[in-house]
Amino acid sequence: MPLTRKAYRAAILHSIADPAEVGIEASYEYFEDGLLVVDGGKISALGHASDLLPTLPADIEIEHYQDALITPGFIDTHIHFPQTGMVGAYGEQLLDWLNTYTFPCESQFGDKAHADEVADIFVKELLRNGTTTALVFGSVHPQSVNSLFEAAEKLDLRMIAGKVMMDRNAPDYLTDTAESSYVDSKALIERWHGKGRLHYAVTPRFAPTSTPEQLTLAGQLLTEYPDLYMQTHISENLKEIEWVKELFPERKGYLDVYDHYKLLGERSVFAHGVHLCDDECARLAETGSAISFCPTSNFFLGSGLFNLPMAEKHKLNVGLGTDVGGGTSFSLLQTLNEAYKVMQLQGARLSPFKSLYLATLGGARALRLEDKIGNLQPGSDADFLVLDYHATPLLSYRLKQANNIAETLFVLMTLGDDRTVQQTYAAGALVHQR
Ligand code: GUN
Ligand code: ZN
Repeated sequence: MPLTRKAYRAAILHSIADPAEVGIEASYEYFEDGLLVVDGGKISALGHASDLLPTLPADIEIEHYQDALITPGFIDTHIHFPQTGMVGAYGEQLLDWLNTYTFPCESQFGDKAHADEVADIFVKELLRNGTTTALVFGSVHPQSVNSLFEAAEKLDLRMIAGKVMMDRNAPDYLTDTAESSYVDSKALIERWHGKGRLHYAVTPRFAPTSTPEQLTLAGQLLTEYPDLYMQTHISENLKEIEWVKELFPERKGYLDVYDHYKLLGERSVFAHGVHLCDDECARLAETGSAISFCPTSNFFLGSGLFNLPMAEKHKLNVGLGTDVGGGTSFSLLQTLNEAYKVMQLQGARLSPFKSLYLATLGGARALRLEDKIGNLQPGSDADFLVLDYHATPLLSYRLKQANNIAETLFVLMTLGDDRTVQQTYAAGALVHQR
């Protein structure tokens, strides 16, 4: 782990605010010839190279990149580690997809050797794609979370994860009980929550697979420990929503189920929300909860189009999720490519600076970690990327025609993918080199 000072010179771009709140121009800082200084795993300075170079000791090591862009590490606010082996499974919408592909694939994660092997692949894949923090679903097995956190801890990654709680409407081989899910989650919280840069998320899969007893105990865990996260799914698919109405006829709607069991709050992140109504968005915003916008998944599973302008109207925190394996790419650049199309199909636009915000500072805000990650302000964790303008022949040629950073950024998000990520740094250490 490098605890010494080192500087990185390149074009540097980061979000400093939500364009929906301050306008595009005030939402970012761009240094055409910038310098990022890292000290002990944290960022100690950021600015124009011409201003900062004279202030540095003569012997400081400086890495100088030509034709590259330094950005904060990407933040994936919704992904399933045990679905790595089934990404891109053909033909079904949510409920059939879960039964046909997802549950059988997740059943293997009680086995330590298997969970360790996939955790290694999964973490490498995150870093290859420039994702330095993710909010991750495990499987129902505590082992899945142990394997993932062990892999993340080795690299000192800021990672959030939880064991799925699921005590009904799933195959017997994959269900826990309300009591065992509480006990197992508690043991994982005691072992991992707050250890290094790791955090725990209480993880009821979604309302249909938890009994009222289990949802009650999930809510209880949140009151027992400070700063715990809660992650689940909401209003993704129309058949799912009808099913929730049948299972919880006494509740006003899907969100009201989670509200009743005290699962809303500042560290609660709900994936999808494709079919939320105005009142539900308002209630999510009121409680400080966040939504994870997962465009590749919403296309792939035929779920629908997320209404980002409605979320913005309510000042709802929104992060970006890949939702692998319902989503089809680990790349948040590719996820933004699809997010742009989601907006186009609704007659709206997604500016490249809003996209950058969603993949970085917006995600950090959804996770209440904006003082630590999501931008490159001095004092932040040194989690950052070097994006290569020459990653592919087409990207190289296309970027030669770009006239400004807005165009460059948009092309990176449209043509870019894992190949674009030349290096990934976490806590100041090089954790991926293409
Ligand atoms: N709803 C409940 N479980 C899942 C899951 O694994 N993936 C997605 N996309 N939606 C879900
Ligand atoms: Zn999901």
